[in-house]
Amino acid sequence: MTPTKIGIIGCGNISDIYLKNGQKFDILDITTVADLDFKRAKAKAKQYGVKAVTPAEILADPSLEIVINLTIPAAHYEVSLAAIDAGKSVYSEKPLATRLDDGRRLLAAAQAKGVRIGCAPDTFLGGGLQTCRKLIDDGAIGRPVAATAFMMSHGPESWHPDPEFFYQPGAGPMFDMGPYYLTALIAMLGPIRRVTGMAEISFQKRIIGSGAKKGQAIAVHTPTHVTGLLDFANDAVGTLITSFDVWGSHLPHLEIYGSTGTLAVPDPNTFGGPVLLRQAGQNDWREVKLTHSYTENSRGLGVADLAYALRSDRPHRANGAMALHVLEAMQSFLDSSQAGRHIELTSRCEQPAALPVGLPVGTLDE
Ligand SMILES: NC(=O)c1ccc[n+]([C@@H]2O[C@H](COP(=O)([O-])OP(=O)(O)OC[C@H]3O[C@@H](n4cnc5c(N)ncnc54)[C@H](O)[C@@H]3O)[C@@H](O)[C@H]2O)c1
Repeated sequence: MTPTKIGIIGCGNISDIYLKNGQKFDILDITTVADLDFKRAKAKAKQYGVKAVTPAEILADPSLEIVINLTIPAAHYEVSLAAIDAGKSVYSEKPLATRLDDGRRLLAAAQAKGVRIGCAPDTFLGGGLQTCRKLIDDGAIGRPVAATAFMMSHGPESWHPDPEFFYQPGAGPMFDMGPYYLTALIAMLGPIRRVTGMAEISFQKRIIGSGAKKGQAIAVHTPTHVTGLLDFANDAVGTLITSFDVWGSHLPHLEIYGSTGTLAVPDPNTFGGPVLLRQAGQNDWREVKLTHSYTENSRGLGVADLAYALRSDRPHRANGAMALHVLEAMQSFLDSSQAGRHIELTSRCEQPAALPVGLPVGTLDE
C-alpha cells in the first residue's frame, strides 16, 4: 500500500514516541513537523530526518493526508478544527477536546468535510488489552456483569515542572487519565448508557515539588477525586475512580467480572500484560499468554490503523465517535455530582472491532 504522508503539530514530550514508532509501520510516512515554538520543531526535524515548518504550512501542504495533533489539551480543538477545515484527516492526542460542545463540533466538521477524526488513546489496541478482548469474546468469563477501574495517585506536581494545568477545568485526574480507562472499558464491554458521579476538590492548594517553580502554590479549580458509576448498554455496571488525592492504594487498575470468571486487566496506560484469569471453581489466578503483538510502547498504532482504514475504506478503531463518548462520560461524572442525578449519555459509539490474531509486526488489517 502507498504510505500515507503525515504532518505532526506539537513537538513536545510525547512527539518522540510518535516519530520513532512512525518508522515501524510501512503505511506511515511522517514527513513534516511543526510547533508554535519553531525551535522545538527544528530540533525534532533534525533528530528524526524530517522537515520543520510552521503549523500553517502543514495545513497548506497538499501532500499531507493526516495531521497528528500533539499539542496541549487546551489547543486540541482549535488545531484539529483547522486541520479538518484544510481537508485533512486528524488524529489527536487525548482528550478529543476539553469541552463537550467542542468535541461535538469537531465530529460535525469532519463529517461535513468528508475526512476522518481519530483520537488517542490507542493502548486498547496493544497486546494486553486485545488479549482481554479476545478472552471476553471467546466466553472465558461468561457474560460480563460488572467492572471496576481505579487510577489512584497523588497528582503530578511532585515531579512535573509545569503542573498548573492539571488542576484547571478540562484536566484533573478524570480528563487526564480517564480516557485510558474509559476507552479500555468501551473496547471490552461496548458503549455506556448512563453515568453517575461524585467529585470533590479535597485540597484547595497544591505545592509544586520540583523544577524552577519548586515551592510555588497552585490553586485547584477542578475536582481531584472523581468517583463514577457506569451503566453499559450491555447491562454490565462499572465503577471508575480517578484520583490525585491518595498517597497509596492496593486497588487494581481494571477488573472485569463475568458470570463464570474474573479477568484482571493490565494497566490501560500500557500496551502489554499481564493478563490474569480466574474462572469459577478455580482456587487461584492463572496468567494468560498474550494472543496479540504490540506489547511494547506502541503509541501511533491508532494512526497506523487510521491510515489503513482510509486506504481500505473501513472504519478506524481509535475513532472520534468513541473519543466523544469518552469525553461525554467524563464531563457527565462532574455534571452528575453537581446536579445530584444520573445522566443519560446522548453520544453513541460502536465497540471497535477486535484486532485479528497473528498480524505481522509493522502491519494492521487492511
Ligand atoms: N507527556 C506524556 O507522557 C503524554 C502521554 C500521553 C499523552 N499525552 C498527551 O499528549 C499531548 C501533548 O503532551 P506533551 O506532554 O507532549 O505536552 P508538551 O507541553 O510537552 O508539548 C506540547 C507542544 O505543543 C505545542 N503547542 C501548544 N499549542 C500549540 C498550537 N496551538 N499550535 C502548535 N503547537 C502548539 C507547544 O509549544 C509544545 O511544544 C497532551 O494532550 C497530553 O495529554 C502526553
